[in-house]
Amino acid sequence: MSTLPDGEPLAPVLAAAPVADGEFVEITDADVEQVVELWKTCELTRPWNDPYVDIAEARAGDGSTVLVARADGRVAATAMAGHDGHRGWLYYVAVAPELRSTGLGRAAVVAAEAWLVARGARKIQLMVRTGNADVLGFYGRLGYADQECTVLGRWIPSD
Ligand SMILES: CC(C)(COP(=O)(O)OP(=O)(O)OC[C@H]1O[C@@H](n2cnc3c(N)ncnc32)[C@H](O)[C@@H]1OP(=O)(O)O)[C@@H](O)C(=O)NCCC(=O)NCCS
Repeated sequence: MSTLPDGEPLAPVLAAAPVADGEFVEITDADVEQVVELWKTCELTRPWNDPYVDIAEARAGDGSTVLVARADGRVAATAMAGHDGHRGWLYYVAVAPELRSTGLGRAAVVAAEAWLVARGARKIQLMVRTGNADVLGFYGRLGYADQECTVLGRWIPSD
């Protein structure tokens, strides 16, 4: 568990004063390594999605971003947001394991929703991997429900 300089555990402190949604800010160059580390810890990375490319592409356009909250000088939570011109999408919602159940996950989603709504989104969507059904309860608490759709995909062959 992370500790404060005097050795006090960080998690109970944050539980008393969780990071507010206003404290989520756009990722900076200095955050990138810690963000990738957090995503790996949270088992959100996959061999076919280079997280560094995902971050770079999200930062490149006006319609997408990665939001981060820092605690104790380190990246504590993230959410990637992207507006496709029709819907807003969430990706990489992640909270450091030792800081969970303090409201940070909710704050990350709320911050990303606000970012998307400010860009015209009227509906927010996200995908939950089949093997990550445990997280459905979290999104249910935040008002998200099964849209009774099946997501299809196809990789575009590279030259
Ligand atoms: C999912 C995750 C972001 C939740 O973060 P968190 O900081 O623990 O969530 P919060 O403390 O903000 O919880 C918000 C609410 O959801 C509930 N909740 C959190 N995780 C839950 C779960 N797995 N099942 C049911 N409810 C859950 C909390 O009890 C809380 O309820 P409340 O409305 O009564 O207060 C975190 O567990 C995580 O990073 N998981 C690994 C990465 C991941 O799977 N991300 C999602 C990819 S789709």
